Amino acid sequence: MLEVLVLVSGGGTNLQAVIDAVESGTVTNTRITGVISNNKNAYALERAKKHGIASRCISPKEFASREEFNEKFIEAVDAWKPDLIVLAGFLVVIPPAMIEKYRNRIINIHPSLIPSFCGTGFYGLKVHEAALARGVKVVGATVHFVDEGTDTGPIILQKAVEVEPGDTPAVLQKRVMEQAEWKILPQAIDLIANGKVSVQDGKAVICL
Ligand code: GRF
Repeated sequence: MLEVLVLVSGGGTNLQAVIDAVESGTVTNTRITGVISNNKNAYALERAKKHGIASRCISPKEFASREEFNEKFIEAVDAWKPDLIVLAGFLVVIPPAMIEKYRNRIINIHPSLIPSFCGTGFYGLKVHEAALARGVKVVGATVHFVDEGTDTGPIILQKAVEVEPGDTPAVLQKRVMEQAEWKILPQAIDLIANGKVSVQDGKAVICL
């Protein structure tokens, strides 16, 4: 059984998609054992509570320095002994020591087809604003392992979504979530839980 810890900062719709997929049996061999938020007001924490999932809040704001936060944050994560850490809209930079310790055991969902519209500064609505400003006709989402770069780790799954005439960043964001993010995040967890993902030469390989 893959024990999963989900890290969140906001609304938690991706967390909800994973919870629903585990509860319905779409994702197998998986248990969500905890949720950590850096934001005590994150609605994601309510979602965890409603489903009986243990949660805690830990924010850089509570610490005098980033080093101190990083140390306590890693301790908090370690306490769960997770097999897999899922970043579901988590807006805090992951400490390098944690990436090293959990190599190829941390995944992130990014709302674009990497390597487009990713890297520093591309988060939330900014991603969709940039896609519309460039006039691309296809956007999408990516699930990838987390490495030391920003959105540079091995790509596990991607799903494309069409841009439609008259799209605003908010409308496009919602379509990317509904048609791509909420599908490929649970799907990636299911693949990992069933031993179907490996990393070879820096690339994720799926063996079905
Ligand atoms: C999603 O768009 C995700 O791709 C991005 O942050 C957003 C989180 O949304 N990394 P939610 O909190 O899961 O609703």
